[in-house]
Amino acid sequence: MLRHRSAVVIAALIGATVLLGLSSAGQFPSWDTPPNASARSGAPASDASGGVPSYAFIPFGSGLASTPPMGWNGYNHFGLDVTADTIRAMARSLAVSGMKALGYTYVNVDGGWDLRARTAGGDLQPDPKKFPKGIKPVVDFVHALGLKFGIYTSAGFRNCANTSAGSFGHYAHDAATFAAWGVDYVKLDWCYLPLRLYPLMPHALLSEMLARQFGEAIVASGRRMLLDVNDWIDPSTASWARDLGNMWRTATDIRDNYQSVLFNFTRDMSQYRMARQDHWNDPDMLEVGNGGMSLNEQRTQFSLWAELAAPLIAGNDLSHMSHDVFAILTNSQVIAIDQDPLGVQGYPLTNRAGHWVLTRPLASGARAIVLFDATGKAAVISTTVAAIGLSGSAEYELRDVWSGRVVTTKGPISAQVSAHGVVMLVVSPA
Ligand code: GAL
Repeated sequence: MLRHRSAVVIAALIGATVLLGLSSAGQFPSWDTPPNASARSGAPASDASGGVPSYAFIPFGSGLASTPPMGWNGYNHFGLDVTADTIRAMARSLAVSGMKALGYTYVNVDGGWDLRARTAGGDLQPDPKKFPKGIKPVVDFVHALGLKFGIYTSAGFRNCANTSAGSFGHYAHDAATFAAWGVDYVKLDWCYLPLRLYPLMPHALLSEMLARQFGEAIVASGRRMLLDVNDWIDPSTASWARDLGNMWRTATDIRDNYQSVLFNFTRDMSQYRMARQDHWNDPDMLEVGNGGMSLNEQRTQFSLWAELAAPLIAGNDLSHMSHDVFAILTNSQVIAIDQDPLGVQGYPLTNRAGHWVLTRPLASGARAIVLFDATGKAAVISTTVAAIGLSGSAEYELRDVWSGRVVTTKGPISAQVSAHGVVMLVVSPA
């Protein structure tokens, strides 16, 4: 219900800005040119926000996300109903299942953990029904398992579900509270913004100011906390958030269906140049294991997210997972692509009527490629070693990260891809 309402609000709010985004699409590179190096150099965005001045690069949270963050968040499966018990159960599952060892580190509570009113002293109040002993003991439990804890708040007056206080007017106070609890990650959502207080200020400029202020509040708190800028409203979020957040949303809330995955993938992919170490495009959390997609489609989401260098935040009930779902979330070869230390997001080479070829440069010099059939009918998708960006060797090895099959080629690459499916290959000199 709430999720449905968000979608309606989004449609109303961004109709105009989406059009704007399209008309300024020239600011994004054409899809058949390779990414330029400056996008990854740490240099400030210049004119990508279309007239909004750029500011000096402030390295909030630098070093906290040298590879895309991995972990779990309760919203996609439990909505706002996450309790201290849920968090403990999910943290335990991460630790004992082996997911922690594969890099799933953050255990994140989403919206709804706190009440609408603050205490007389101005503190956010954990909902006593959900967190009877408050947040600190839950954070301590998560830390004792060698994991990290993420919390949620809104940059505006309320959380997006309108059930909890927002942080506007209290950034320094709330960041200090989170720091005192030992929080490691702050998801800063984008609702009930103080638009009335800033008449005539463009949305992007206001948002940039708020994100910077929250980043400064984190710095002032004295604790290093990752900043997740969750502005899902503004299609140009990447243009200003790329210097402020460790990650930022590139699309509206994901849903547990293939069309939503396709939409969020496409939006994220169109901004591939924005991502770099410590600063990642976020197409939203995983829906793997939530029941709305076939296993094939779930493998597709996981593969595409890895190609996008997206945060891998599992969104399912980790204590009730089928073997097949677990196998997707723990495919170490796909995770290694996502976490590749070069930190370059994959980009599209071609998209012929829904038959995509994507390539991602890896630190080893290899390329991770995805042949993605976005249509409803199986197809053969082809490319070549030269087209994906490799040269200089007489023969190349193609390692299929889902089947484990290894074959060699002198140039042509071709595979039968199922409807809504992917073939993901690591291509390297043989
Ligand atoms: C949305 C946000 C979601 C989730 C939800 C909670 O605004 O994009 O990721 O946090 O709020 O109400």
